[in-house]
Amino acid sequence: MKQTAIYPGTFDPITHGHTDLVERATRVFDRVIVAVAANPVKKPTFPLEERIGMAAAALAGLTGVEVCGFDRLLVEFARERGASIILRGLRVVSDFEYEFQLAGMNRKLDPGIETLYLMPAEQYAFISSSLVKEIASLGGDVSAFVHAGVMAALSRKMR
Ligand code: COA
Repeated sequence: MKQTAIYPGTFDPITHGHTDLVERATRVFDRVIVAVAANPVKKPTFPLEERIGMAAAALAGLTGVEVCGFDRLLVEFARERGASIILRGLRVVSDFEYEFQLAGMNRKLDPGIETLYLMPAEQYAFISSSLVKEIASLGGDVSAFVHAGVMAALSRKMR
């Protein structure tokens, strides 16, 4: 599809679930912008620049993917970057309620931008960034869930 899609998230940190989704998106869209939200409300563990760096490293092998940070309204940032599609992942039914609100709000804010959903591979359906951080903080092995660079950053942070 000759379209630019924007994939927003906090990515604190990026996991294999996120990269799986981006990889799927590159098969559908010409360009995928992975937009790392500053999201101070969520009090991220990693500062924005570090989250951007980890995402860039984890996605380095994929063509047509750009990673950048943003600290404003998503629809404004999408417009500025020429993206008319917001891409989100739906893992389990419980994701739906939040996604329903997010898509509805974004549509109200800019009716010209559509939200589309992709499903990550089943083996990633249960991953979340907070669970990965919890496991890492307790000395558990998270190598099945995150890129090696993210693992290194996690062990530095948790030390
Ligand atoms: N695989 C694995 N995990 C996934 C995943 C996937 N495919 N998709 C989401 N997750 C996890 C994340 O790791 C995250 O886990 P955590 O809560 O344990 O950290 C959780 O699901 C939620 O992440 P996500 O769905 O990406 O939401 P978010 O809260 O990180 O991002 C924004 C929300 C950034 C999209 C939203 O706050 C936003 O648009 N902000 C910009 C400002 C704005 O415009 N606000 C108004 C919106 S109407």
